[in-house]
Amino acid sequence: MAKQKKRATLEDFKKRLDAINPNLFNMLSAPKTHFSFRVNLNRTTVKDVLEKLKQEGIEPQSVDWCEEAFVLPIEHREALVKSKPYTSKEVYIQNLSSIFAAISLKTEPEFWVLDLAAAPGGKSLIFSERAKKVSAVEPDKNRFFMMKRNFKESLAKNIQTYNKDGRFIYKACPQWFDAVFLDAPCSSEAHIDINKGITWWNQRRIYKFAKLQKELIISAFESLKTGGEMIYATCTFAPEENEAVVNYLLSKYPNAKLLPIPHNFQNTQEGLTKWQEEEYSKELSKTLRFLPNKAFSGFYMAKIVKE
Ligand SMILES: C[S@@+](CC[C@H](N)C(=O)[O-])C[C@H]1O[C@@H](n2cnc3c(N)ncnc32)[C@H](O)[C@@H]1O
Repeated sequence: MAKQKKRATLEDFKKRLDAINPNLFNMLSAPKTHFSFRVNLNRTTVKDVLEKLKQEGIEPQSVDWCEEAFVLPIEHREALVKSKPYTSKEVYIQNLSSIFAAISLKTEPEFWVLDLAAAPGGKSLIFSERAKKVSAVEPDKNRFFMMKRNFKESLAKNIQTYNKDGRFIYKACPQWFDAVFLDAPCSSEAHIDINKGITWWNQRRIYKFAKLQKELIISAFESLKTGGEMIYATCTFAPEENEAVVNYLLSKYPNAKLLPIPHNFQNTQEGLTKWQEEEYSKELSKTLRFLPNKAFSGFYMAKIVKE
């Protein structure tokens, strides 16, 4: 008789999260209390948006680390989505972890930035405001066209789009880019709604994504100019898709070095240097895991310089 595959259970998932951080499961299960958005500086100014929102009775809270990012209680989401600034693409709903990761990429006004896994394009929009030009890569056709529309409606005119597989970009563009962001496709554990069950989660998915991520991080690093910086990020907690992928890059390229990520957030923990039987470079403690809290989604990020 054929051996039946054992289905992953919520208990399996919880056990793994507990081993990363004993509070993680509860933080992920807690109802969402806040959400965040960013002002689209390609279209307008922060002052203008705040005035318009005030006229509609919406008064968002600012954050002290990004001038154009704001937080609102979750009950105000519908009002924001119906507001003039939202419908005219002057604001873009985006969680604070994503905004922080994108603005942590070192960019200068004359830079050319590569966003290697770009749809729906929220982070490319941030780079487009900070750099001279952005190349946004997305292999999935539907997501690619949705992203193109997003850029057009947001008036982001300095983004070139490529419907390509990010794994092979480095072959056509070796060492081309001043900065690279890889927001890797992942098992998206941070978006699991535990109250609805873990229907699509299992460890095979984690291993499948880890394999793809290792190819993508090599492509990202090879596309980066010497002296340039890149960020590797995911919205998943699994160390196999995070620390292990970054560790793989460090072990293959002695000129790949991790940089510290300065921040003042409480809901974070440093990267693991050990997971199950695996030992990673001690340098991995410079990477950052966001624990889900208020307008922050679960997230992992590593900042790498190419020496
Ligand atoms: C986490 S999402 C990116 C989110 C985006 N950076 C943003 O902030 O709006 C990952 C994206 O990678 C894309 N992807 C999947 N396989 C890929 C590959 N081989 N090369 C590049 N991108 C890939 C997925 O289709 C998905 O759109």
